[in-house]
Amino acid sequence: MTVKINQCNQQNLQLLQEISIETFNDTFKDQNSAANMEAYLDRAFNLKQLEKELSTISSHFFFIYYNEEPAGYLKININDAQSEKMGDESLEIERIYIRNKFQGKGLGKYLINKAIELAIEQNKKMIWLGVWEKNENAIGFYKKFGFVQTGAHSFYMGDEEQIDVIMSKTLK
Ligand SMILES: CC(C)(COP(=O)(O)OP(=O)(O)OC[C@H]1O[C@@H](n2cnc3c(N)ncnc32)[C@H](O)[C@@H]1OP(=O)(O)O)[C@@H](O)C(=O)NCCC(=O)NCCS
Repeated sequence: MTVKINQCNQQNLQLLQEISIETFNDTFKDQNSAANMEAYLDRAFNLKQLEKELSTISSHFFFIYYNEEPAGYLKININDAQSEKMGDESLEIERIYIRNKFQGKGLGKYLINKAIELAIEQNKKMIWLGVWEKNENAIGFYKKFGFVQTGAHSFYMGDEEQIDVIMSKTLK
């Protein structure tokens, strides 16, 4: 078994879109209407939007490969790219997406450790994320790595207002 993590660039746009749409669909389609899913996917993962995110200086994307197959990705934000004003001493995990067939193999753990490593390298004091309150699987996963709930904010999934739990972990 080989695991590799590579930073994504503009050449990887198509693959980034493919993994994003597939994982989002597989994770959330059973708990949301088809219309709201479509509206969200169109807005969040159109090529123009992803291209903009990839060229944002303070955002970084990393693919993870399992036996050379693209299995998921990590998106982190620092400084002004963070989706909440958390300040320059924190790093946001915006997404950890592992494709369904690669879940449960330790790849999420590789990516969360990658995010923690990057935060420590950059002398950040805190690492945080927002996760949908109904995404119990991800909440359980983040708790396992020492994240605790420190807040909440709302966001729109199509026309439905939903709550994201904010979870944080203090770094030594
Ligand atoms: C949540 C997610 C990132 C977890 O990744 P994964 O690759 O399946 O998890 P791993 O196999 O790396 O698990 C690592 C450890 O966490 C534990 N774990 C995983 N899910 C858990 C859960 N729901 N509750 C408690 N522990 C959990 C595993 O048992 C494992 O423990 P171990 O190291 O002691 O063996 C993955 O399921 C995913 O991408 N889901 C869909 C997208 C999503 O919801 N992303 C998060 C919001 S952006």
